[in-house]
Amino acid sequence: MAERLPVAVLISGRGSNMRALLEAASRPDYPARIVLVLSNVVGAPGLAVASAAGVATATVPHKGLTGAREAHERLVDAALREAGAELVCLAGYMRLLTPFLVSAWAGRMLNIHPSLLPAFPGLDTHRRALEAGAKLHGCTVHRVTEAMDDGPILGQAAVPVLAGDTEATLAARVLAAEHRLYPAVLAAVARGEAGRVPEAGAMLLNPLPLPGLAD
Ligand code: GRF
Repeated sequence: MAERLPVAVLISGRGSNMRALLEAASRPDYPARIVLVLSNVVGAPGLAVASAAGVATATVPHKGLTGAREAHERLVDAALREAGAELVCLAGYMRLLTPFLVSAWAGRMLNIHPSLLPAFPGLDTHRRALEAGAKLHGCTVHRVTEAMDDGPILGQAAVPVLAGDTEATLAARVLAAEHRLYPAVLAAVARGEAGRVPEAGAMLLNPLPLPGLAD
């Protein structure tokens, strides 16, 4: 197999998407390997998960660097390069990026967002999808550009919004979809295939039977 792409994952919290990427990368035929899991939050639960899996971790706290967003990013960037990363996956990394980090990794940074972009960028996506009466919701993996939750879409997974859904039940359904989508898109990117076959990035999960068509 060709050389596996060295990837760093940036997290701020529980790191369940990071875990999904680690699990995928533990398979011998997966085209990427995780060389670093980095958090801006001291003691982020995902760090322990990564360590237990034998993956290098780093913490670059942003606290104490208030007003110095770029100074923090320069430390993050140095750690990414030191680890030999060639691609960065944001996975619940709760920092707005400055043009410095975005341009340093232009075309080589991915993000997962819990909505079908361009619908519902930003926070509270599940509540907003419910309030809007959306019938389909889901998640998106996209390349990172300077605008938040923007940038070319590489893959999306859609799930139905079900009667009686709460923010929590909908979030859980979307999260399960995230865990399938992110490893699939990363594999496509690592193989240089992402975006070449548009429908290859589309997943329709838990589809509902169409009314009148069910037998
Ligand atoms: C996910 O919903 C992801 O889409 C969003 O932040 C959440 C992170 O969850 N960007 P986890 O830390 O991967 O469990």
